[in-house]
Amino acid sequence: MDGKTADGKMTGGKTMDYTGMEIVNLITGKTKLLGVIGNPLSHSISPQLHNTVSRGLGIDAVYVPFLVEKGDLGAAVRGLKAINIVGFNITIPYKNEVVRYIDEVSREAALVGAVNTVKNVNGKLYGYNTDIPGFIRSFKEESGMDDLRGKRVALLGAGGAARAIAVGLAFEGISRLYIINRTRGKAADIAELINGNISPVAEYHGTSDTKIEEVLTKSDIIINATSVGMYPDVNKTPLDFPFSFLPRQVLYDVIYNPGKTRFLEEGEKQGIKVVNGLGMLIYQGIMAYEIWMGIKVPDEITRRLFEFFPGLPCREGFYGRNFH
Ligand code: ATR
Repeated sequence: MDGKTADGKMTGGKTMDYTGMEIVNLITGKTKLLGVIGNPLSHSISPQLHNTVSRGLGIDAVYVPFLVEKGDLGAAVRGLKAINIVGFNITIPYKNEVVRYIDEVSREAALVGAVNTVKNVNGKLYGYNTDIPGFIRSFKEESGMDDLRGKRVALLGAGGAARAIAVGLAFEGISRLYIINRTRGKAADIAELINGNISPVAEYHGTSDTKIEEVLTKSDIIINATSVGMYPDVNKTPLDFPFSFLPRQVLYDVIYNPGKTRFLEEGEKQGIKVVNGLGMLIYQGIMAYEIWMGIKVPDEITRRLFEFFPGLPCREGFYGRNFH
């Protein structure tokens, strides 16, 4: 090739050897398209997650990241519909804004005000929030507590993750939800959403309220849905006072990097059941895939993802929380 590659660049005088070139059959004219829209996306593990599932199941589909600039969301969604995408995820910062471009939004997603999964059926877009059932499935399967009816839950945090978790727990029939957040007003908003639309089980507190220890003691489940303790701030804890957990209590942390936050380490030291957020990440993805393909992903595939994915958080720019 005369020291030049196809695009005309010099190759340092070496002749390129193309004898190993092969036909790539990975994507064909029949391959189904899936993807995720968000910004940034470089941290996202969703392409690996979904492409691993497709490969595992032998389904001819490819999942691609679509970086969308602010102001282009509507055009991006219309474009995806126009090219007949099968379905897509939405992540930061568009989970709320995308709702206005969806034709039909599920009741849970409408309550949370956030859609993370869209299915395109003959040009009509259906919106779902799989963070909600993703959390519930992860919690039940990994904590061993599979009936949440009558449980009292302390929820630390009042951001997007907390909102999805609160809605999921309320639909499961918990008897009390104590929402505790640094910014009290945000906890109040979620309490109002739950009490006004699902069941009157929620109360809210600021993190420095004197009643915090009392409500934690009453709780069967304590969930960290804040970002406190996430990599690289691994020495921080969402409860900044010494607290003795009770043997019946289960701790859940939405963070999965580190795999065990100080909050979970403390619970484990005190001998109680602890669960990290890797399951929520994996199940929200599995449930999106099930919606797109209309299938049940076999448990064996899910089990393999739990084996593979703890290795990925070492990647540069990986968040360790927030799903996609
Ligand atoms: P997401 O949508 O992923 O849940 P978010 O909306 O940024 O993310 O929410 C982050 C949560 O972590 C919030 O509850 C936030 O508390 P505020 O509502 O007061 O901001 C909480 N959080 C983040 N950093 C915190 C800190 N240093 N101390 C206490 N809470 C913190």
